[in-house]
Amino acid sequence: MGNERRIINVAIDGPAGAGKSTVAQRAAHVLDFIYVDTGAMYRAMTLAWMRDRCVIDAQFVTAHDVSFVSVNGHLRIHLDGKDVHTDVRSPEVSQHVAAVSAHRVVRERLVALQRRIAADGGVVMDGRDIGTAVLPDAAVKVFLTASVHVRAARRCAEWGGASLEDVAEAIRARDARDETREQSPLVCAPDALRIDSTHMTIDAVVGTIVHAVQAVIHRV
Ligand code: DC
Repeated sequence: MGNERRIINVAIDGPAGAGKSTVAQRAAHVLDFIYVDTGAMYRAMTLAWMRDRCVIDAQFVTAHDVSFVSVNGHLRIHLDGKDVHTDVRSPEVSQHVAAVSAHRVVRERLVALQRRIAADGGVVMDGRDIGTAVLPDAAVKVFLTASVHVRAARRCAEWGGASLEDVAEAIRARDARDETREQSPLVCAPDALRIDSTHMTIDAVVGTIVHAVQAVIHRV
């Protein structure tokens, strides 16, 4: 991709279960960009809170170090110097992360870190507020959605066990929380490319994003 990639970042936002991380990882691979999972950063901070069970304030936030370490070209989430990429996926973390990530002090700290990671470009970053708040100048912004039914079906296939209707209900509740929270609610940036993946394959979504990035690269 040459040096142009340095000044180009890709922001991918959207609700839970829309396929952001799969699509962002594959797009990053095709583009030879670095994939940054900002959800993992909020999850790491949640893990810290689960251990401390303290008030979430500036002191708590600065007492913990959330960082990424590159392992075979992929960024692995670390908390206080320890690899926590498995721990952050626990059901307990999933249960508390929406509440922890709603705190302004948490967001300010992690957003500053996210901007630093993206400062040199060449990053595909996924989350809820990347195109709107973290990287409003990203060269390509994508808002990835899918119907609640399809998102629930994907989650059921991933997790097994839970009924489709229960998962759909949990997704609706999480959407409502993410869309109505005071700090950085989940909204589509006005200049984002809106992709509804309900009837699209992963390859088709990735192809659309890669095409949009290549169009920008050829313009600069
Ligand atoms: O994408 P995920 O499920 O790993 O995200 C975990 C939680 O973190 C989710 O409740 C929304 C929140 N989050 C956020 O508030 N802002 C981001 N940029 C990324 C995730």
